[in-house]
Parts: sequence; C-alpha cells; structure tokens
Amino acid sequence: MKPAEGKLGVMVVGLGAVTTTFMTGVLMARKGLAKPVGSMTQYDKIRVGRGENKKYLHYSDIISLASLDDLVFGSWDVYPENAYESALHAQVLNERDIEPVAEELKAIVPLKAAFDRNFASRLDGTNVKGCSTRWEMVEALRQDIRDFKARTGCNRVVVIWAASTEIYVPVDTAVHGTLAALETAMKADDRQRIAPSMCYAYAALSEQCPFIMGAPNTTVDIPAMWELAEQTKMPIAGKDFKTGQTLVKSGFAPIIGTRCLGLSGWFSTNILGNRDGLVLDEPANFHTKEVSKLSTLESILVPEEQPDLYTDYYHKVRINYYPPRNDNKEGWDNIDIFGWMGYPMQIKINFLCRDSILAAPLVLDLVLLSDAAARAGRFGTQRFLSFFLKSPMHDYTQNEVPINHLFQQYVMLKNAIREMGGYEADEEID
Ligand SMILES: NC(=O)c1ccc[n+]([C@@H]2O[C@H](COP(=O)([O-])OP(=O)(O)OC[C@H]3O[C@@H](n4cnc5c(N)ncnc54)[C@H](O)[C@@H]3O)[C@@H](O)[C@H]2O)c1
Repeated sequence: MKPAEGKLGVMVVGLGAVTTTFMTGVLMARKGLAKPVGSMTQYDKIRVGRGENKKYLHYSDIISLASLDDLVFGSWDVYPENAYESALHAQVLNERDIEPVAEELKAIVPLKAAFDRNFASRLDGTNVKGCSTRWEMVEALRQDIRDFKARTGCNRVVVIWAASTEIYVPVDTAVHGTLAALETAMKADDRQRIAPSMCYAYAALSEQCPFIMGAPNTTVDIPAMWELAEQTKMPIAGKDFKTGQTLVKSGFAPIIGTRCLGLSGWFSTNILGNRDGLVLDEPANFHTKEVSKLSTLESILVPEEQPDLYTDYYHKVRINYYPPRNDNKEGWDNIDIFGWMGYPMQIKINFLCRDSILAAPLVLDLVLLSDAAARAGRFGTQRFLSFFLKSPMHDYTQNEVPINHLFQQYVMLKNAIREMGGYEADEEID
C-alpha cells in the first residue's frame, strides 16, 4: 500500500447541512476544540493477530491513513453561499461551534454546480454551470478537479456526493449497460437517463479520484460506471449514508433473525424539516430514497430461508417534511413480531436523532477509507464500505445479494483493513 503522503483533497458535491457539519467538525477537531465522535477511523480499534500475538490497534496503526490535518476542502453547490454562510443557514451547529473556524469556512466557496432542475425541482439556486450538454458538464467538472489540484497542490482527491437526492433514474441497460453506451448517451445529451450526478462520477473517475455516492441515487450503481472504475483503477462506493433509522434497522433486525422470531410488519416513519426533507417531499425524489431504505430488511430477514418466519411481512417507510424540526429528525419504528405458536408482540423504537451529526463522521470515514483503498490498489465497488451505507452496491447482474446485516458488514470492514495492513483476514470472536 502506498503511504498517504501530502495533502488529500476532498471535493464534496453539495455544500449543505451534511457537508458543512462535516467540514466544521474536522476544522474544529484540528484545533482541539471538538471531538470527531462517531468516526470509526478516529476511534475504533481492530484486533490483529491471534492468540498470544493479538493486539487491538486503531485503523491508522494498521494502514496508512490521511490525517485530519492533511485534508483540503472544495465543493460545488447550486447556491453561492460559502461554507460559513451555509453552516449558519443549516442550523445544525451552534454559532459557538462555527465561529472559531469562520475564516477557514468562508474560504470554501462552492464552484458552479452541474445541475438540471428536472432532477430536483424544489431547488432554484443560480450558481449553476451554463453547459448545454451532459458531455460539456463532464468536461467542465474535469477542469474543476484539475484546477483544484493545481491550486491546492493536492496530488490525491476524493469526490463525494452529499448533494440533494435526485429523482429516481431506473437502470436502462441500453444506456447504463456499458461504458461505451454511457459515453454515447452523454454526448447525445440524453437528459432523461443521464443524471447530473453521473457527470460528477464520470469526471471524478476520469481524473483518478475515488467517487462515493452518499445519496440513494443510482449514479455509480450501473455496469457502465463499474467498467469505468475498473478501467481507471479507482474505487467507487454507494449508496446513501446509513445514519439514523436504517442504522437502527440493520442493527436491530439481526436480533429478530438470530433469535428465530417471526416478523409480520415493520412500519418506519420520520419527520424531517431541513432542505433534504424539502427535496424529498417531492414524490419523484422520495421514490429514490424509498427504494434505498426498503432494501435493508430483505437481505437480513429472508423469506426463502425461513418461510415460516418471514413470508409476506409488510415493510413500509415514510418521510414527512415538517419544517419546525429542521435537521433534528424524529423516527418511529413499529415492529410487529410473533413468537412461540405465532403469538404477536410489538416493539416500538423512537429515535430523536440529528441527521447531519450522524452523517458527518460517515463522510470522514468514507473519504479516508476510499483514499486508502485507492493507494492499496483496490478498485471498483468497495463492498467493505457497506457498513456506512444504507443500500450497498452489489453486482445485481450476477444476482449477487447485498450485505445489509450491520455485524456482517463490520466483519467485512475489519477484514479489509486487516488485509490492506498486511494481516490475515479472520472471523474470530474478539
Ligand atoms: N443527513 C443524513 O442523515 C443523510 C443520510 C443519508 C443520506 N443523506 C443524503 O445526503 C444528501 C445531503 O443531505 P443534506 O441534509 O446535507 O442536504 P442539503 O439540502 O442541506 O444539502 C444538499 C445541497 O446539495 C446541493 N445540490 C443539489 N444538487 C446539486 C448538484 N447537482 N450539484 C451541486 N450541488 C447540488 C443543494 O443546493 C444543497 O445545498 C441528501 O441527498 C441526503 O438524502 C443524508
């Protein structure tokens, strides 16, 4: 594995609540004014070796990781506000947690976005590139990345999407099936089947940057992008940061499955009032999220494996836009289970969370680990990052099943880090 030398550029698509919370937290942590709580790369320890030789090490003691001091931020957004203004607007953090790094945040001014209102009709910002075709978007974004590298002196850059959820783009093999077909469609300006996010991903991979999809968009979840990632030897990961309700679901469903209890229904609902909630209030955008959130249970509680326990359970996910709560989402889960002789029981979970507070450490971990993966020569879909994602990418053309079970995902994460660090992968109990 190549060592993490020099600065690491982090170019984030979208300079909204998640991004500004992430950037402010990193800048504050650098000054010793805040702790990066929730970040696996900063806190978790993994066992390496066995028996008498075993020891528990932080990730950065196993693999070479960029440090918080090495990160240099860039961004694109539809709105022109700098990171300081946007952090205030988002109202996630108190001013006292923003002011000490105000100057650094003010210097992060978003580049013009590659944007098409048909993909997020609730947004009306004007900081948008004047490209006339999708291919022009790709070229303009590639130039942005090159300019960023030249300006900052970063030899490595990771591009991560923390922008609004786009409307659902179903996979169409005629356009998304091969790289050649995708490029043809971009050049032919197929605005329906080429989402702006695909232009960011294409540009990032072509400029030798790993690309991570933090929203549920199908952007890199298509064979054409897998081909590009193989060709450019770059890592890709997605989709959708696993923050609140789905984190709980992927951690709680294994209790039901492991204990061989039955499930007759799982109803999840949320209220959310930030700009993310506003965009998701549009049914076409919500559909993208719904597909992502629904996929979690199916691979943990599998009807084919346990027909008595999991046949025809009813699974519903709703998100309701409710402005007074802003970023402080509240999620309710009602779980109808059954036990011995089929007798019903209920479990209720009420999670009063903070969306961006949960998402920020995931952005940090995904950036640091995908940079590490690139230096370790890993490319294509990074399954070990599933731990951080709601709807992990998998090769559906080969009927591969995604791993949604939180603790199986954790085993994959630990083993990838062991392997990159030159240790043996194992599944021993810690
Ligand atoms: N916070 C969480 O817990 C969480 C969890 C999973 C996924 N996500 C996803 O992360 C994303 C960001 O969430 P947020 O709360 O920061 O939202 P936000 O609305 O505060 O920020 C998103 C920003 O993206 C910008 N944007 C939209 N389209 C763009 C484009 N084409 N190019 C550049 N910028 C663009 C918007 O102008 C906005 O400022 C959303 O897609 C959300 O669904 C968030």
